[in-house]
Amino acid sequence: MSRLVVVSNRIADPRKTASGGLAVALGQALEATGGLWFGWSGKVVEGGTPGEGELRLQNAGKVQLATVDLSKEDHDSYYLGYSNGVLWPVFHYRLDLADFDAGYIGGYRRVNQMFAHKLKALLKPDDIIWVHDYHMIPLAAELRAMGCKQRMGFFLHIPLPPPLMLAAVPEHDWLMRSLFAYDLVGFQSEADVNHFARYVGTETSADILGEHEFRAFGKTLQVQSFPIGIDVDEFIEVGKGRESQEMYEQMRSEYSRRRLLLGVERLDYSKGLPQRLKAFRQLLQAYPENMGSATLIQIASPSRESVDAYGALLQELESLCGAINGNFGELDWMPVRYIHRNVARKRLPGLYRAASVALVTPLRDGMNLVAKEFVAAQDPDDPGVLVLSRFAGAAAQMRDALLVNPYDTTRTAETMQRALQMPLEERQRRHKALLEGIRKEDVHWWRQRFLAALAAVPTA
Ligand code: ADP
Ligand code: F6P
Repeated sequence: MSRLVVVSNRIADPRKTASGGLAVALGQALEATGGLWFGWSGKVVEGGTPGEGELRLQNAGKVQLATVDLSKEDHDSYYLGYSNGVLWPVFHYRLDLADFDAGYIGGYRRVNQMFAHKLKALLKPDDIIWVHDYHMIPLAAELRAMGCKQRMGFFLHIPLPPPLMLAAVPEHDWLMRSLFAYDLVGFQSEADVNHFARYVGTETSADILGEHEFRAFGKTLQVQSFPIGIDVDEFIEVGKGRESQEMYEQMRSEYSRRRLLLGVERLDYSKGLPQRLKAFRQLLQAYPENMGSATLIQIASPSRESVDAYGALLQELESLCGAINGNFGELDWMPVRYIHRNVARKRLPGLYRAASVALVTPLRDGMNLVAKEFVAAQDPDDPGVLVLSRFAGAAAQMRDALLVNPYDTTRTAETMQRALQMPLEERQRRHKALLEGIRKEDVHWWRQRFLAALAAVPTA
């Protein structure tokens, strides 16, 4: 049987805690199959040489981890600059936040070339290579240029924007052409596939062979949607563990007289945090019965803090939380508990379970696994309610959540109120349907569908 080789910028020991949807999902996928996981070590070498980094190999259960360090210069241009200063904002529809510094692309190409070079030395001829996310779009093209003939698939964890927005990236034609070096490209949703098809229809001379098949640059490419899921049973098991139970008990006793609303994410402008806080403020103003009771626990873990847009968001959030607490708080009640840290994964299900309402209200999100984790963590007899942005990839699958437009403060506040007041029977019905959905389309379903489609691609 062929070995699975997974490549992603962020990698994590599958046996340990990871924050970020990609690391969590890939750890779970690789645990099932074994194989090699290749990516950045997370280490930045001050004064290191650009385009060079030490490769380390280590075994983590069934998975072999291969990690490469980055020099400070490469980290700044490839990770902070091009990946998170250009591609992340544009792909999340935020042209206003993109920093089109012409210097970044050199680092992005250089690191992809270095990764390709290091990876090639580890490859076997019949490996199946699965590359992930926007940091690594040109990796297959680099590997092909070095003579690699293996089957290669690519999955984009974030949205693909409409063609005219994509065209704002100065190197868009090179990036999209690079995708044709893969045999299969996967997106989170049909909307993304549609944007891809429209892009190749308008910006390239590709032949559209079918709904999911395109031919350009002498290569045929299959493109499909593969919405990512979570390992529901594993998450339920984590929820039964001691740390999770303790978390649940602690929250229930500390907030016994309150109703908890919960947000958990990386502190990222795609997650709609200021809009959420404004809607929560509106909830308190429009429905004063929530005063002294409704408490928003907002966990926002530090992320990409040296990128300017993230620093600005941190300040905005701190000031909004301070203003809400100052204006509405009482000596014995603070409406917002804002925590700028990670929560240990073993404790997360207990936190989700203690909440009456989860607020998952991104302005744009590839999928959003927090929405699925919240559902998996609930007590089916007395479940909490999921308020979900229609702009999260998850909205296409989770129609039984309360869907909101996070830009619409008044309606989002109304929906929060509806969630807080929802009768038990409706909560149970919605939760049952959501749980069935995330169980059916879980992380194993996602992995198997992608790998089966990759194996089925006819190769030359
Ligand atoms: P993204 O990939 O943009 O970070 P997702 O919602 O798809 O967003 O995935 C986030 C993952 O990281 C989830 O598994 C979630 O549990 C975890 N996570 C996010 N924020 C935190 C946090 N503050 N503490 C602990 N885990 C977190
Ligand atoms: O899921 C999107 C994503 O950007 C992943 O690629 C990434 O691992 C995760 O979010 C967390 O971001 P970062 O790796 O920059 O900390």
